[in-house]
Amino acid sequence: MSNRIVDVIKMEPAKKIEVSGWVRSFRANKFISLNDGSCMASLQVVIDPDNFDIETINGLNTGASIWVSGPLVESLGGGQKTEISANEIRIIGNSNPEELQKTILQPKKHSLEKLREQGHLRMRTNLFGAVFRIRHHMSFAIHKYFNDKGFFYIHTPIITGTDAEGAGETFRVTTLPLGKKEVDNSQDFFGKPTHLTVSGQLEAELAALALGKAYTFGPTFRAENSNTTRHLAEFWMVEPEIAFADINDDIDLGEDFLKYLINYALDKCQEDLKFLNERALKEEEQLPKEKRNELSLIERMKMVSSNKFERISYTEAINILERSKPNKKKKFKYPIEWGVDLQSEHEKFLVEKHFKKPVVIVDYPASIKAFYMRENDDGKTVAAMDILFPGIGEIIGGSQREERYEVLQKKCKEFKIPEDAIWWYLETRKFGSVPHAGFGLGFERLMMFVTGMTNIRDVIPFPRTPNNAEF
Ligand code: 4AD
Ligand code: MG
Repeated sequence: MSNRIVDVIKMEPAKKIEVSGWVRSFRANKFISLNDGSCMASLQVVIDPDNFDIETINGLNTGASIWVSGPLVESLGGGQKTEISANEIRIIGNSNPEELQKTILQPKKHSLEKLREQGHLRMRTNLFGAVFRIRHHMSFAIHKYFNDKGFFYIHTPIITGTDAEGAGETFRVTTLPLGKKEVDNSQDFFGKPTHLTVSGQLEAELAALALGKAYTFGPTFRAENSNTTRHLAEFWMVEPEIAFADINDDIDLGEDFLKYLINYALDKCQEDLKFLNERALKEEEQLPKEKRNELSLIERMKMVSSNKFERISYTEAINILERSKPNKKKKFKYPIEWGVDLQSEHEKFLVEKHFKKPVVIVDYPASIKAFYMRENDDGKTVAAMDILFPGIGEIIGGSQREERYEVLQKKCKEFKIPEDAIWWYLETRKFGSVPHAGFGLGFERLMMFVTGMTNIRDVIPFPRTPNNAEF
């Protein structure tokens, strides 16, 4: 097995090492820049063209995969500490230079749209290498955080018959023939209508009501036809659920969890973050001053991880918005009044203009939230909480769950949820029901925050959005 470049660049000079990777460039018939994806840095490979046959030299095209062997020596050039002086080179996979011109492997600046169209190749670029290495570290950190805190990872179903959020934006799963007007659901594969899950929460609750602390982390699907930079039809959600806990425990967990993940990235992904930080600064130079971020990516991450999140009620949020300058000047597109759902323009104002730090909003009107959220004593609001982040908006949505059987039964009726679809959920409220709470973190929203990427399609390897399911 070859050495990985991430290890080689930290090594002292050595007699013989072997590396395998992809040629980023070959210049002056002498210097190969070799990248194997293990880190941002490429390794310099120096060759004496007289020692290699012409096929090998001609095969050293951008994009080609090669194997190299030779001593690791101190580099005379300024860019790197060490380099390989190649004794042996094998071309493993050729790369046709003419066809390469049409691809994003061609070393020049490509638009993010073009990179997206070539999603099969974009991970080979510095930018997407960084993004997807960080995505790995964040997934790992999520499991580590919960494991260290005694949570159990539970695999919740992807095919389900219930719609937790009740927003009706589900993808049907069926084996019934296409184009039939009259559908007999009893003849379908599961003997009833099913769809892809919008959330693993209801099943995670069942786990928490047995194991105490549980979490699920998996793909979720929503057929919302919102072609925005923050929505995907297929996204990953992290959903912890804690028993013997209330809404404040839930917020504490959410705040601690987010800070842990941000600090983990700051600590473990320094090289990739530095690259993304500089890239974002360069990109912003092209924007008018008022559109630029006041803080850089890394500064934003440090700001969030070192400040206490602001906690306010929905009612307070509405009051602030009503009194706000943009409202008085009629700058908001959507009206503000108690009872309406907050739009992203409102969330943006609260986080970026008013408080200038993450904001947690609690106690939303019952009518705009899901059926399972715990009714507050005022009869009008529920113990819901959203965590809003600068540049992102809602990153976490959660609540204390309704643990009282009769109240939950009443809510099911109000929300027109048939009891025979959700009998099992209700039943947990009959046998040792306990106050419990949880939340959902949109994994890609977190990824946007820790990479500074402004389109959610650029933080998931293969995005699914309306009219787009390539790869
Ligand atoms: O607020 P949501 O809809 O909450 C739930 O699904 C609850 N069942 C979670 C729970 O309490 N266990 O979604 C949770 C988070 C949002 O805050 C957002 O970050 C993300 O999921 N999210 C999306 N991310 C990308 N694309 C979409 N279409 C998303 N919809 C929600
Ligand atoms: Mg939400």
